[in-house]
Amino acid sequence: GLQVGNLLKQTGYVTLDPGFVNTASTVSAITYIDGDAGILRYRGYPIEELADKSSFLEVAYLLIYGELPTAAQLADFTEKIKNHTMLHEDFKNFFAGFPRDAHPMAVLASAVSALSTFYQDSLDPFDPEQVDISSIRLISKLPTIAAYAYKTSIGQPLLYPDNSLGYVENFLRMSFGVPTTPYEVDPEIVKVLDMLFVLHADHEQNCSTSTVRLVGSSHANLFSSISAGVNALWGPLHGGANQAVLEMLERIHAEGGDVDAFVERVKNKEPGLKLMGFGHRVYRNYDPRAAVVKKATTKVLDRLGKADPLLDIAMRLEEVALADDYFVERKLYPNVDFYTGVIYKALGFPTNAFTVLFALGRLPGWIAQWREMMSDPTTKIGRPRQVYTGPTERHYVPIEER
Ligand code: ACO
Repeated sequence: GLQVGNLLKQTGYVTLDPGFVNTASTVSAITYIDGDAGILRYRGYPIEELADKSSFLEVAYLLIYGELPTAAQLADFTEKIKNHTMLHEDFKNFFAGFPRDAHPMAVLASAVSALSTFYQDSLDPFDPEQVDISSIRLISKLPTIAAYAYKTSIGQPLLYPDNSLGYVENFLRMSFGVPTTPYEVDPEIVKVLDMLFVLHADHEQNCSTSTVRLVGSSHANLFSSISAGVNALWGPLHGGANQAVLEMLERIHAEGGDVDAFVERVKNKEPGLKLMGFGHRVYRNYDPRAAVVKKATTKVLDRLGKADPLLDIAMRLEEVALADDYFVERKLYPNVDFYTGVIYKALGFPTNAFTVLFALGRLPGWIAQWREMMSDPTTKIGRPRQVYTGPTERHYVPIEER
């Protein structure tokens, strides 16, 4: 870290690397990706194993603290999370204040930012206890915030968290439960959503995580940094792709389901048209997360007894694209967002809430990356250089002479 930093400072050279295609912004011991081989590991553990055997809170612990928890550590962590699921009563005013049709990502980012107004006792980025309690508060409260944003948008009463339930079940109940009726959900469905959160939990220096780090590098507090990450995630080239994929599938369906014609239009680079949910900066192979999601999609639809023509369109799109030179040459494969939307839709989430689900999953990764950076004494403020292309020196001309 320090040595590399000083070396760069001494050379006087500036490298231009738009989009950071080849530039590492940090060293990190959290997540490993081999994009050519399609490998993803959190703290050394293959994503497929974690998706199959672990749980979201266990993975959150792993990412943040570096090791899988013992039974006692996991119980303690889970208990702490449960103790902070409530929102301050005054916090609810935010939800009532936004327009009903506000995009849930805008509400989420604003609400996360607003946490720093309610928890002024935990804003010091260099006090380990404050950082720890902020981390817990975020993981505890994000599902409550997400569910309240949704409930407000449909005009239903807000449900207090039920801490006898697990993390994901509690979130589903707050989203879809009503006060007068006991909430029941198939445990297999809970398991699938938990698994999707595991798949999203970290992805090294992606756009939102880099944003969280960059904001944090100015010593901004954890809530502010995470709020910036939520905003970065919203864009359709990043987490917003899950909403964009579903809208694309719906459009193809509405236009008669001609997948080949759609792929042709994409290949002809029709302005604004991409095969959403395809391609990735790092993966030049099948995204290992997409493979897991694809399997889960069929399982969820079977389990819920729901057939969805959009799944057929998605599978056909994949088939056509993977056999087409355009996609083969460019090494474009389905990414994590390609199939998730079909599952979220089957679970009952509105399309514009999909990226919120991504944010819930990505949260522990953002926190872990922010903490890793803050605890490294060699961290410097993130401050990229530029290559100036504007006018050379010129002189002010009075307005009447222009
Ligand atoms: N559909 C059609 N063509 C594509 C796609 C796509 N989805 N993705 C890339 N390409 C083409 C580009 O047009 C370019 O072609 P060219 O060489 O003829 O100009 C080539 O493939 C390389 O693509 P880049 O845009 O240079 O790749 P980059 O690494 O900058 O972008 C990105 C990666 C943003 C993910 C891109 O593939 C994309 O826009 N995909 C669709 C959006 C999406 O699914 N985003 C989610 C990413 S995963 C995540 O954040 C969770």
